[in-house]
Amino acid sequence: TGPRRVALQGDLLDVIGDPGWSAPQDAPSGVRFRPGHWLLIEDGRIVDVRAEAPGPDWRREVRTGQLILPGFIDTHVHSPQLDVITSYGTELLDWLETYTFPAERRYADPAVAQAGAATFLDALLAHGTTTAVVFPTVHKVSADALLAAAHARGMRLIAGKVLMDRHAPDGLRDDVVGAEADSRELIARWHGTGRLSYALTVRFAPTSTPAQLAMAGRLLAEVPGLYMQTHVAENRAEVAWVAELFPQARSYLDVYHRAGLLNERSVLAHGIWLDDTDRALLADTGAQIAHSPSSNLFLGSGLFGWRALEAAGARVSIASDVGGGTSLSIQRTLADAYKMQAMQGVKLSAWKALYTATRGGAEALGLAGEIGSFEPGRSADLCVWDWASGPVAQHRDALARGLHERLFAWLMLSDERNLHETWIAGTCRPSPIRPDRSGVS
Ligand code: GUN
Ligand code: ZN
Repeated sequence: TGPRRVALQGDLLDVIGDPGWSAPQDAPSGVRFRPGHWLLIEDGRIVDVRAEAPGPDWRREVRTGQLILPGFIDTHVHSPQLDVITSYGTELLDWLETYTFPAERRYADPAVAQAGAATFLDALLAHGTTTAVVFPTVHKVSADALLAAAHARGMRLIAGKVLMDRHAPDGLRDDVVGAEADSRELIARWHGTGRLSYALTVRFAPTSTPAQLAMAGRLLAEVPGLYMQTHVAENRAEVAWVAELFPQARSYLDVYHRAGLLNERSVLAHGIWLDDTDRALLADTGAQIAHSPSSNLFLGSGLFGWRALEAAGARVSIASDVGGGTSLSIQRTLADAYKMQAMQGVKLSAWKALYTATRGGAEALGLAGEIGSFEPGRSADLCVWDWASGPVAQHRDALARGLHERLFAWLMLSDERNLHETWIAGTCRPSPIRPDRSGVS
């Protein structure tokens, strides 16, 4: 536990309103750039931002010339899949069978689950992600280890045991009764404990029986504040399989709707192969799509229609989807998102990108009062970044005209090697790979 009052100085940047899809200006409303300002943190929460240094009863931490952003929010990522990140040559269903399911089986072992959770959460922090919505495995012990490790680090995490009772290999299936008992036990232990929330975690429609989906829907209605996470409409072969398995459903998304699994705390990854009725259903229920561009490109899944979803009134957050995605870096993820939209003639501004990864993600999760900005009262979950790392980025940064150009270059060129430190509720964790600053005050 750190000191009660800390003042952190640097280039403070946060985006508190959705910048939309209009051409970027240098200072649109909702974007706050306060270079060289002081962020005042008391008992782990932001209490003020000001231009002048505070008095002697504040410990001063000076990061002049460094970029300070709210911590990133990764709304869809798989902790055990660090073991299979960058697996070659397959689309979704073969990728699951060939690489992912064998890797996840190892997490039945408590020692593997504990070591994997620690490695994964330390990696998130080392990439500047302070909040995540996470899939562990079907094994109760893997969810328990992940939630315990997040609690120990003071991180805000949303996770739950994966539900899958069919179409998966031995060692990776539960059953309805056991899955409900395990989920209830984990909910009692972790939901609302510290900064944790529990998510009913339906892997995807093909790996749950209708009875298991119905069980999850009942729990979601019963326990206040639970989240629900799953995958939807990622890959064309997957969509065709779901249509075979659930002939009575109107669409893949409708499978979840019929089971009572869509509400404003539902987080569905991908959402590439949706139609207008699906988009309207997402808007009506308040469920969000966790857009995962790195994964969609790597697995050849398709191009995400971001603008159409938002035009229909649905929410979109941003996600790495490691290990389908190839990096935990949210900058790299946003760079992939930019290129995927560019392929469709749509331009993602740096403002929209940064908003989506911070305040927008917080709003979509119902956590904007807690995280995602530097508004007073928010938890001091933030990151200190170098504006440029390496000669090319330094060259480009020096030539940038205006703030949007500078931030856009930062988003396209930076990654975890730019991270200096991550602050969780006001406690600083230096990056394990931060550049050597000996000799620099
Ligand atoms: N669909 C079902 N399981 C998975 C998974 O682990 N990753 C991705 N990208 N899609 C899935
Ligand atoms: Zn996923």
